Amino acid sequence: MTLSLTDAVYGPHNPFSRDPSAEESWYTFLPGISKLLLGIIPSVTRRKSLQARARVVEAFERYYSNGGHLGASTMVQDQYLHQSTWNLPSQELAKMDIATCVAILSSGGISSYWMLYHTYSNPEILGKCIEELSQLLEDKESADGQRYRFLDLSQIATRCRIFFAMLQETFRFHSTIISAKSVTCDTFLDNQYLLRKGGMVLIPGPVIHKNTEVWGPDAHEFNHKRFLNKRKIGTSVFRPFGSSETMCPGRHFWTNCILSFAAMMILQYDIIPEDGQWRMPSKRDADIWNTMPKPLENQVTVKRRVQDEKELPFKFVWGESDELLHTETHVQLGSDEKLQALSLSESDELLHTETHVELGNDEKARASSLHEISSGSLATGCSSQQATDVEFRG
Ligand code: HEM
Repeated sequence: MTLSLTDAVYGPHNPFSRDPSAEESWYTFLPGISKLLLGIIPSVTRRKSLQARARVVEAFERYYSNGGHLGASTMVQDQYLHQSTWNLPSQELAKMDIATCVAILSSGGISSYWMLYHTYSNPEILGKCIEELSQLLEDKESADGQRYRFLDLSQIATRCRIFFAMLQETFRFHSTIISAKSVTCDTFLDNQYLLRKGGMVLIPGPVIHKNTEVWGPDAHEFNHKRFLNKRKIGTSVFRPFGSSETMCPGRHFWTNCILSFAAMMILQYDIIPEDGQWRMPSKRDADIWNTMPKPLENQVTVKRRVQDEKELPFKFVWGESDELLHTETHVQLGSDEKLQALSLSESDELLHTETHVELGNDEKARASSLHEISSGSLATGCSSQQATDVEFRG
């Protein structure tokens, strides 16, 4: 997962796939973030984490100095051009990528975990999701006569209502986002509350997401049907990706990644909890900096589902053209293999994204990587208008 996601964003010269020690360093750095945020003599208390972070920054510096960004996604290229306009040295640019990688590699994997947890732990929901996804499957034959079951993953967000509603409810139910906004001028809210210029407003997402006046008396429960008939939901009440100008520019990318990954799992694998009973894992060890809380360990068994008698292989593709994105399933799970907590970082190579560089010499090379195919929204972020009116739809 780490490699496939960063490949999609950073292209064929992705520092994580070029240099395996960069990935190792990343996962040495990550657990130190909470303590680093506290800022208590970090050079002593989080020495290893800081050293690991420095190694990742060096890998990114090499990436930029070798022109690796020229084959990357539009977002990376635009960021590069923007920072260069402000004469930001490439070392500083490389440091910014630490924040980008936190965004890419943290909340999404955890969201996928919870999405799968809620789907598999309720046989009725699992059955409905399989049924919905199966309606998108087509029997096809390749040029060499091989038959296979074909699924265009880009159809899921718009055609699988229950499945998509599950993801929205997963975000509502688990998101721990707290948005921080600074007040730029004296402002009266609702003619009652004066927010003074220079102050800071903290908007705790979980309080709003569990507000019974907004979501009804069952606001504290997981209800997979909640979003079924809600076409458009304002970001004042539904804020897993924040709101307004700083709203997450990666939301479409990740929505599509989670839906695609979950669909590939649900269609092909059974997941069985260790003692036969699904119990929601505790979120006691959630990281304060993450907008989705990670679960405590949860032992499950993952088995390839016995398919029908035809046993045709699956082929997962993004978009109509088979050429654009081949998402062959490289889930390397043999039957009866035990996984710890379905942690997505452990099952690598799930999404394989091909990068097609068109132009090489004028710093405008464009890569057809996953996010561009999926929505293009990741490329330049959002204007404030787009952000406030956003429809949370893939
Ligand atoms: C499930 C996955 C993700 C979640 C839940 C998430 C959530 C968030 C949230 C809550 C914010 C703050 C919004 C605010 O200030 O109101 C944010 C900002 C941001 N996210 Fe994400 N994010 C995810 C994935 C990604 C990905 C994949 C990328 C990049 C490829 C990304 C890039 C960013 C960036 C650059 C910002 C800062 C935007 C700004 O300040 O202008 N995020 N994200």
